[in-house]
Amino acid sequence: MKHVRAIACAVALVGLGVAVAGCQPAVREEPAAGAPQVALAFLPADPEPLRLEPIEIGTAPPNPYSAQQIERGRYLVEFGACNDCHTPWTLNPDLGMPAPDMSRELSGHPKGAPAAAGTLGPGDSALIGPTFTSFVLPFGTVYTMNLTPDIDTGTGSWTEEMFLDIFRTGRHLGGAGRPVLPPMPWPNVASLSEQDLVAIFAYLRSIRPIRNLVPSPDVPEEVMWAMRDSYDKLLGLDSPNVEAVLADD
Ligand code: HEC
Repeated sequence: MKHVRAIACAVALVGLGVAVAGCQPAVREEPAAGAPQVALAFLPADPEPLRLEPIEIGTAPPNPYSAQQIERGRYLVEFGACNDCHTPWTLNPDLGMPAPDMSRELSGHPKGAPAAAGTLGPGDSALIGPTFTSFVLPFGTVYTMNLTPDIDTGTGSWTEEMFLDIFRTGRHLGGAGRPVLPPMPWPNVASLSEQDLVAIFAYLRSIRPIRNLVPSPDVPEEVMWAMRDSYDKLLGLDSPNVEAVLADD
């Protein structure tokens, strides 16, 4: 039964790219002794299995949040499918299928891991890399960020206010510069209450800090400006349009 549920989750996650509550616990469970391996017939043959660099433990700042806030954040992170994109997927030999590798929980696109090797066909929106943490979009490549509290490479140096501003503005680190890029579903996360967003931040402070420097997105500046313009419309903000900004450069 457990395997059936795991497959249903994987198909839903890969096929639809949506969150399915209850998928993550299935991934963490040990299969019962003697349970049959799931056939990998639905996966393309991979002549060179992916080998990720070993996990490097980083340094986290103190976590001032309450156990209640952290628990609420954990619940929201699981439901919000944050692991599907921010935790690298590897082949889980026990499950017999790829799944988020929770030993690298929320550490983002692993340093040195490849992005998708193919090219987009006409009208395609995205190619997803082998760890499900990199996305080749029609205008460039985007990598999921390290959300663990490592001070140097993750969120350990962020303030709570910065975290809230990311979702209030759709801007990278809540600043005044580039937008948060797709497929990060920031407008969905932004629909949470401030209390729930703080709870997510509290949970992120509580997890194991993993030192992993994620590559910067490779996206042209014009696209960044155009996207900012679109986000401002989405948020109902009054801002100069992209042609005006580029003309001023
Ligand atoms: C569909 C994939 C996907 C899902 C699901 C997802 N993220 Fe992301 N996230 C990304 C990508 C890709 C980036 C990098 C975007 C960029 O570089 O601008 C990102 C970036 C971020 C950032 C940094 C934004 C910035 O640039 O300042 C935060 C914070 C974040 N995600 C939190 C979350 C949380 C919390 C969840 C779950 C509620 C979540 N993400 C779910 C793909 C995803």
